[in-house]
Order: sequence, then structure tokens, then C-alpha cells
Amino acid sequence: MNLKNKKIVITYGTYDMLHEGHLNLLKRAKALGNYLIVGVTDENYDRSRGKLNVSQSTQERVHAVEALDFVDKVIIEKHKKQKASDMVKYDVDIFAIGDDWVGAFDYLNEYTHVEYLPRTEGISSTQLRQEQIGVIKMGIVGLGRDTQSFVDEAAFVSSIKLNRIYADDFLAIKKFNKENPQIEYGHDNYDDFLDTHVQAVYIDTALKKHYMLIKKALQAGKHVLCENPIALEKKEMKELLSLAKNNKVLLLPALKTAFLPAFKQLLKELEKGEIGEIKEVRATRTSLYREKNYPESFMAQGATNILAGYPTLLIHKVLGKRKNTTFFDQYDNGFDISNLIVTQHQNNTVGVARVATGAKSEGDAVISGTKGYVYIPAPWWLTKEFYFKFEDAHKSYKFKYEFEGCGLRYMIAEFASLIHRGKRSSEVLRPTDIVAISRIVLDYRDHKENRDKKEH
Ligand code: CTP
Repeated sequence: MNLKNKKIVITYGTYDMLHEGHLNLLKRAKALGNYLIVGVTDENYDRSRGKLNVSQSTQERVHAVEALDFVDKVIIEKHKKQKASDMVKYDVDIFAIGDDWVGAFDYLNEYTHVEYLPRTEGISSTQLRQEQIGVIKMGIVGLGRDTQSFVDEAAFVSSIKLNRIYADDFLAIKKFNKENPQIEYGHDNYDDFLDTHVQAVYIDTALKKHYMLIKKALQAGKHVLCENPIALEKKEMKELLSLAKNNKVLLLPALKTAFLPAFKQLLKELEKGEIGEIKEVRATRTSLYREKNYPESFMAQGATNILAGYPTLLIHKVLGKRKNTTFFDQYDNGFDISNLIVTQHQNNTVGVARVATGAKSEGDAVISGTKGYVYIPAPWWLTKEFYFKFEDAHKSYKFKYEFEGCGLRYMIAEFASLIHRGKRSSEVLRPTDIVAISRIVLDYRDHKENRDKKEH
């Protein structure tokens, strides 16, 4: 094509389950010029703007649009401000978008000509998802510290219907039912609960009960999302993972940080190597449960068991496999109230995880490299923003992602989306990641047992 005659049109969208409405819009857009660029939204960007229920991955959606012969180029839209810079970068003549957006993009008239095109009536990705994919029936197991938030947040994930609960305390179920009338069915017998049509369960009980509850659910063919750690013994952990694999169901620890848009973006940004070779990762998580009126039995599970999964997640995702581990724990009433866990990884890199339920500290994280560092302010495990910082302070920059609710909805949406897509493991929390993260707790248990033996 002669460059002089090239008339560039650009449009953006999610294009989930590519449908007739999308095709009509894209054809109308192309007809405005002769070269069509389509910006497909990145999944992290979609989630940060509240679009939780997209069923296809970025790659799948990009491939579907690329396959259209009248589309000339496909790009990925990663953040809100990208549109304005794309107009300049691609020397765009016309920005086109469906008329459900009238007015929203008038600000781009400064860079190009904005056209709102008629939308096709009676079809949308939302509608197709509801019709074609169906809704996953999910039940709750136990009444733990996150159960109420889980119910509140699941309401934002349209592909899940949560309407059943199991707990061993019938009075507690009745009380819960009263406060959450949408949870219509309550059981105090686990076998009866598993015998129903629930396809997936969320487990939030005392940690020592996890193994048995997960095992039975997996044997009954249910997908499982369980608070971390999923087991407190090595052989139990292995057994559960192979049971999930053999029964072709999904087993995920409920480490919500792993699924937050900002956390996922952080891992992607680190891969670019801007801070040089990474040498150390330090992350802290403390919580004074006594001051929050948690029962003593909760604290007695130990600070390491309750909290270590979070810093270990960050350290493991950034530094990989662990070689050596040293625990510096402090005790009160027979259980650990704090633990400084120093780990050595490949290439002599070092992880420093600090957890405590009996001492308060700043819950931030720092990833140090040979050319700079990343700082994630407290609470780093509810990742919203992070800073790339360098010796020359002028070069520093920041990433900020919007974050709705208490963060659980992103994890629930990912869990549902994996089930719908027939995936039996998650990219962010692969079985090898789950083992590595859980092993900190299991190794600490061995460490305590060896010490106790020596003392007696
Ligand atoms: N579009 C259209 N007609 C439809 C649906 C979408 O013209 N029936 C247009 C939108 O206006 C937008 C583009 O297609 O310009 C991409 O929209 P997208 O949000 O991906 O599609 P929806 O089906 O509206 O998705 P959702 O239901 O998830 O909001």
C-alpha cells in the first residue's frame, strides 16, 4: 500500500468469546479507512478496571482477533493512558469505538478524530458467558477468619454461585445463614455436603483440619480452594497434589496476593531486568491477632503456619528454588509468635521473610538488584502500587493498579476461570510453586521437632 494513501483506524476492546457484535464493529471501523489496528486489553488491565469475568486469556483473545483477515495489526492495551500515546506512535487518523462509549473518549480528539459507531443490538460477551459457560456451584467448608469476606467478594464473580455451607457447629451455621440468606443450605455432616451438586469448595477452617477436608473433597471430584497451608505434613501435601492430578480437579491454596493484577504485573516488570541482577528479596507480614480479638486457639497455630505463605510466595516467585533455610523464631506460651526466615537460593541470592503475631512491624517488601530496587509499600501483600528506584532518584518510576474490595474477588475469578477453561493448575501457582511455598511451613515443623528432641 502506498504510504500516502494509508488511512489508519484504531479501536480497542476485550473481545472475549469473539462474537457477531465484535465482527460488525470491526468491519465498520475498517470501512472508515484502509488499515485497522485493534488494541486487545491485557487481562491484568481488565481486572484492575473491574472486568473480572473475562473467560479467555489475553493470548486466546489476541489470536482470535489476529485471525480476522480485515484486521491488519493487533496490539495489547496494558493501561489506561496507553491510548493517547498509541495515537501518536501509530500516527492514527481515526479512533473508532462502539456507541456504548459515547463521550468517554472525547479527550482523544486532541490527537486524532474520534468516531462512535453503532453497536449491534442483542449480543454481548457477558450474555454469551452466561449462556454458554454456565455457573459453577460452590460450597463453603468451615467458618474461619476469611469466610464472610469470601462470601461478600464472590458476589462480584458472576460465574460462581455460592449457596451451601458445611461447618461442624450447627448453631454457627444457623447464625451465618441468618446474616447471609443467599447461602440457602447448611450442613453439619461433611459427607452429606459433598454428596450434593457442589462442583467446587472453599475451605477455611483450623489449619490442622485442612488435609482431611481437602482429601475427601478431592476424592468426591470437587475442585478445591483452601486457605494456606493446605497440609502440615510433607507426605500429606504430596498425597493431596497427586490426588488432585489423578482425579483431574483443581487444587489451589487461597494465597490471594498471587492473583492480584498489580502482583502479576510486578512479576512481569521484574523480568525486564531494569534493576539488574536480583540479589535479595525481603518481605514482612505481621498481625496482632490478640488485639483483633481472635481466640487464643487461632494464635496457637503459630505465626509461621498462619503467615509465612505470603512472604514465601514473593521470595519464591522472584528467586526460585531454595537451597538452605535458617529460622530465628521466638516463642510465647508454647507457640511461635515471630519468625525471621532467611533462605538461600540459586546464585547465592537471599530471601528474608519476617512474620509475627506477637510483634508489630512495617509490612513492606523490597527486591534488591545490582542496578536498583523495587519497593512495595505496606501492606505489600495487598499489592496496589510498587516503585522502581535507582541510585539516580530522577530515574525512579511507579506502577499503580486500582484494586477493588479486599482482594479476594481476583482469586475467586481466577479459580472460576481456570475451571471453565478446563485448566487443572494455575500459571501463577503451579504445583511446584505450591510445594515450594508450603515446604517452608513443613521444614519449620521438622526444625522444631529436631530441636525438641535435642532438648529432651
Ligand atoms: N460491540 C458492539 N456490539 C456489541 C458488543 C460489542 O459493537 N453487541 C463493540 C463495543 O462497543 C466495543 C467492541 O465491540 O467497541 C469491543 O467490546 P467488548 O467490551 O469487548 O464487548 P462486549 O460484548 O460489550 O463485552 P462485555 O459484555 O464483556 O462488556
